[in-house]
Amino acid sequence: MCGIVGYLGEEQACPILIKGLHRLEYRGYDSSGVAIINAKGDLNVYKAKGKVSALEESIKEKDTTGTIGIAHTRWATHGEPNAINAHPHYSESKNLALVHNGIIENYKSLRTEMEKNNMTFCSQTDTEVLVQLVEYMMNTHNCDMYTAVQLALKNVIGAYAIAILDKSHPDQLVCARKGSPLIIGLGKSANGRAEFFLGSDATPIIEYTNKVIYLQDEEIAIMDRSGHIDITNLSNVKQTPQLVTLQMNLDQLEKGGYPHFMLKEIWEQPNALRTCIRGRLNMADKDVLLSGILDHKEKFLNCNRIIICACGTSWHSALIGKYFIEEAAQIPVEVEYASEFRYRNPVIYPNDIVIAVSQSGETADTLAAIQLAKSKGAFLYGICNVIGSSIARATDSGTYLHVGPEIGVASTKAFTGQVITLALLGLAIAKEKKTLSDEMFHMLVNELQQIPDKMQWTLEHNKNIDQFAQMFTYCKNFIYLGRGYNYPVALEGALKLKEISYIHAEGYPAAEMKHGPIALIDEEMPVVVIAPKRGMYEKVVSNIQEIKSRKGKIISVVTEGDTVVRDMSDYCFVIPDTRDCFVPLLAVIPLQLLSYYVAIAKGRNVDQPRNLAKSVTVE
Ligand code: G6P
Repeated sequence: MCGIVGYLGEEQACPILIKGLHRLEYRGYDSSGVAIINAKGDLNVYKAKGKVSALEESIKEKDTTGTIGIAHTRWATHGEPNAINAHPHYSESKNLALVHNGIIENYKSLRTEMEKNNMTFCSQTDTEVLVQLVEYMMNTHNCDMYTAVQLALKNVIGAYAIAILDKSHPDQLVCARKGSPLIIGLGKSANGRAEFFLGSDATPIIEYTNKVIYLQDEEIAIMDRSGHIDITNLSNVKQTPQLVTLQMNLDQLEKGGYPHFMLKEIWEQPNALRTCIRGRLNMADKDVLLSGILDHKEKFLNCNRIIICACGTSWHSALIGKYFIEEAAQIPVEVEYASEFRYRNPVIYPNDIVIAVSQSGETADTLAAIQLAKSKGAFLYGICNVIGSSIARATDSGTYLHVGPEIGVASTKAFTGQVITLALLGLAIAKEKKTLSDEMFHMLVNELQQIPDKMQWTLEHNKNIDQFAQMFTYCKNFIYLGRGYNYPVALEGALKLKEISYIHAEGYPAAEMKHGPIALIDEEMPVVVIAPKRGMYEKVVSNIQEIKSRKGKIISVVTEGDTVVRDMSDYCFVIPDTRDCFVPLLAVIPLQLLSYYVAIAKGRNVDQPRNLAKSVTVE
């Protein structure tokens, strides 16, 4: 969602902050701003509506000197996106400046209280309320900023990651978190002096250091120029931070010659999945090794039910996981929208396992859903991509995707990474439970191993989708159809198109067509049908006939060598043959490419689609 960057050290802060904002732009991008204390002790705040480049342009002639600063990219929650509501926010005296990710739920009552004390506000944001509250605490308790932050945060309901500058202490940077992630990087400048970096994720930090501290909930940190860092909780009890080495490199954050991160990440999928299965699929012994399962074997053997909580694309991969785990391991699986689950009173049995699937590991609803499940006694398992993320840390066990950082807002490699990880998980449980014959188990392991090569084949054979994507730019609606394992792929294909081209699209189980959506079919309506020569092939062929006879345009995904569906189709994408359960890993690729090229043909910004954020850390 929003992004935070901070710097304290020997270097000029502004270029570091701006570069960091660019790296974080994928999280949210309706406005941005920086606050820097210069050598004279002025605390300058500059903000601009729009992208980081607009901010860069607007500060060209301004005094941006100084070696301590904080910065922010915003995705609006309270108050429209404009320069006034952008962060950093000054306190009334302009002695403090603060950036904030998250939501202060009781900001209205706090604001009313302060207004009664004649304090004035210039924005509509909850963030301004927070910085004013810190100043209010400093004045009423006659204390320093650090103590005031502790006091202020004790009065706050909601989620936050914050960084604050105090003009009267130009050598100190203070930050705190609850619910929203915040990472402190510990580096050394060219002359060997200590420097600190802040980031709401690792992307603005990794260029300078891989030594980081993940701030924990309700922790406050104060850093100074001598390299000293102190971390306490809200009650001022000293905490012992854990220094972690980031396993990420800068190349993963660059486009590597591709025009967009999304296209790079689509093409990265074969290699990303090779990394994901490395060490987990043992081809010599035809075995699956998932330490997250092996370490808790009994839990999985005794489990009566699995509930998977997720949002967005992760919810789609969870649905595919459900089909596979039920088929292979014979455990009933329920898939829940985390945002719904967290506000119900779901029934959790002692032997239930709750799995959270989340690329970012920070989605607020998914985190809240598993916290609820934990309070009801469930065993929690996390399937996340971002190492050290909140969900990864909140779960009892788990498996990382290891597909590398995903920057494009529309999820691609994380989706296929999640599907293959859930397949590994299903196989690992099936092995322990002996629910598959040895022959079937080995055959599935063998087939899974070949998926990255088949993905590469699929990419090579569908790279010319750009040549006809132009034809669909006039379309107002799309329908996507699939059955069985491919129904969630239809949902995912439709979501990809909506997200980046802004064309309305719906995914349906193909047989549900005749219960309503068929009324929408006419010669204007493209219908994307996933029709591999597997599973319910004949039935899908009948569904295609129903559409054709109503003059709908058929775009199909077929198995190599299929001529029946090909001849019925207006456009056709080919994938290699694979087991029914693994078709989603291949069938989704032409759909990702289709949405990408339609969006490009419509002139959309595919890496930064309007109104969307990569990581939704608020409700
Ligand atoms: C946002 C992103 C989606 C993502 C969803 C869940 O909506 O734009 O791409 O699927 O959040 O995110 P998660 O990080 O939990 O997988």
